[in-house]
Amino acid sequence: MYKKAINKNNSKDMADFKPRRDSKHARLKGMKDVLFDEYRYYRLLINKANDLAQVYGFNRIETPVLERSKLYERSTGKDTDIVSKEMYNFVDKGGDKIALRPEATPSLARAYIEHGMFNMPQPVKMYWLGPLFRHEKPQSGRYRQHTQFDLEIFGDPSPVADTQLILIAYNFYSELQINVQVQINSLGDKEDRGEYITQLTEFYKERGKRSKLCNDCKRRFLKNPLRLLDCKEPDCIAIREDAPQIVDFLGNNARDHFIKVLEYLDELEVPYNLNPFLVRGLDYYNRTVFEITPVIDDLGNDENGSISQKRQISLGGGGRYDDLVEKMGGRPTPGCGFGLGLERIVQKIKEKNIPLHKDKEPIIFLAQLGDQARRKMMVMFEEMRRGGYKVRQAFTKDSLKAQLEEANRIGAKHSLILGQKELIDGTIIIRDMDSGTQEVIDTKKVNSELAKRLEENKEISNK
Ligand code: HAM
Repeated sequence: MYKKAINKNNSKDMADFKPRRDSKHARLKGMKDVLFDEYRYYRLLINKANDLAQVYGFNRIETPVLERSKLYERSTGKDTDIVSKEMYNFVDKGGDKIALRPEATPSLARAYIEHGMFNMPQPVKMYWLGPLFRHEKPQSGRYRQHTQFDLEIFGDPSPVADTQLILIAYNFYSELQINVQVQINSLGDKEDRGEYITQLTEFYKERGKRSKLCNDCKRRFLKNPLRLLDCKEPDCIAIREDAPQIVDFLGNNARDHFIKVLEYLDELEVPYNLNPFLVRGLDYYNRTVFEITPVIDDLGNDENGSISQKRQISLGGGGRYDDLVEKMGGRPTPGCGFGLGLERIVQKIKEKNIPLHKDKEPIIFLAQLGDQARRKMMVMFEEMRRGGYKVRQAFTKDSLKAQLEEANRIGAKHSLILGQKELIDGTIIIRDMDSGTQEVIDTKKVNSELAKRLEENKEISNK
């Protein structure tokens, strides 16, 4: 009787529903709703982020969405794209200049200083998960609100700290079956960079070069010549090929630090690509900088064969910032960290059709027919929930067909079904949702029967 009611493919995926963007109340450009099915991917990433951060000894921290605009001008950098072009700024009712946070690191450095964390045992390792806002040109993988998983280590100058962060980032992707490569470079210390920038400027001043640069790079040449190196315009890429490389300008300390990071990565078998053009678009970095990119083959295709536009997409990035805390008014404190964008990772998982692992704990669905049975099942639901079962229900539905469809949709392993007849007999139907077979059992035996079935199930999945 119940078998007929089941149609495993009946539930409509949210993606099948066409969004109505014509409404005057449609969401803002570049912003995204995460609907139910998609949220499962976010949950997976959030769980992985929490697990990894805790295993490596990081503590969770949260900071406000709003900060003073000055915080970012001072740390991220006034002339960076993030602050000069993309930051959401407004003046609040008290006349203060406020920004919607465009990145997490400045708030975390501020919190470190404001809460006197230099008095805690060092290093202070913190992690953060939350939304960030950048008024960027929306395109694939680029949103005006995105979510980052961010890890920071304050008070540790050792190359082990840089390596550990890169390792965590690498593990994060590998364990999600996404093949990535670590792009890595060293920006040296402040002193090293001064001499390098002089040489780089001289190089770009050579005849005929500046006129070929894109407009952004012409501006960068005057304000921040390092950024000429990571422009994505083909003409600018062609010119930079012969540019001097910063690794040749590293002082002894920065060079030793960089070599140690690379040696540790070799030891840990984390594949990396030395990328002399990687400079990152934020002002606070020194020494190690890194970005995580999807693996790209020689033709510029990624593993899915999608062409190289994606070459530019960075799944995550970070580096060392030994002067940031002091620059923001704190005691001199070395630091390093990274941020990974969850939206881009979800996109990758979907592109690769990586299946979401089924929940280890089997779901037991409670279904009912008739008002009396419903009352009894509502009580039973609470008892089972308190007893530690992962129970689910759809008690507002009257039709058994609709309830069992819901059980299928959420991937229930077993359903317990109570109808009028069973209610009178003191029995209940237990249905295996995969095979469709069902058995009538004494209500008192529900626990022992479930225990037996779940144990059998565990043995099968362990084989
Ligand atoms: P970021 O490179 O600006 O670094 O951003 C880190 C990651 O956030 C990017 O690699 C990307 O995955 C994601 N992301 C950035 N912008 C967007 C966007 N518009 N849409 C979607 N995803 C985006 C930082 O924010 C630094 N605070 C990272 C850091 C932490 N460095 C040291 N500690």
